[in-house]
Amino acid sequence: MVEILKKILITEKEIDEACVRLGAEITNDYQGKDLVLVGLLKGCIPFLSDLFKRIDLPLETQYMVASSYHGSTTSNELHIKYDLEIPIKDRHILLVEDIVDSGQTIKTVTKMLKERGAASIEVVTLLNKEVNNTLNPKYVGFYIPNEFVVGYGLDFNEKYRNLPYIGVLKEEYYD
Ligand code: IMP
Ligand code: MG
Repeated sequence: MVEILKKILITEKEIDEACVRLGAEITNDYQGKDLVLVGLLKGCIPFLSDLFKRIDLPLETQYMVASSYHGSTTSNELHIKYDLEIPIKDRHILLVEDIVDSGQTIKTVTKMLKERGAASIEVVTLLNKEVNNTLNPKYVGFYIPNEFVVGYGLDFNEKYRNLPYIGVLKEEYYD
């Protein structure tokens, strides 16, 4: 375990089991549907690559880079730094996220993709800090407490995304 961590919250084995479970559910739910996985970079990388091997469907993958500014103002602006390469009208979209925290990112991206005419939009997230949002994403790996976590895609100042497990950052590193 790296020294910035207080503890390991979710092990590699538990993550793998979650990918198997979620992959089976998604395979079942999207039978006969034209599925597009939309990964939100950069955090989605390890989760998406493990999850999509467990989905037994002829799916397509696309990626977005979105950053949201949660200011003190009422408008939650979402800046799309890299957009989808294809139109998504009438296609079934499954957004792949590392973590849903306030839910603002998912909420805004969902609204935008709805406006482009997607047939359906759902969310698969490895982690949900459910005390911070009321979104109820359809597919959730783990419900976690409101602590800052890193690893398996999640960063602290752009580092530690490559850890194979999810760990809780020591309090002394919080703002
Ligand atoms: P939301 O828009 O508040 O749901 O924020 C989602 C984004 O915030 C995630 O994609 C992460 O980049 C970041 N984030 C939220 N909580 C954590 C955490 O505990 N560790 C690392 N990144 C986090
Ligand atoms: Mg992220």
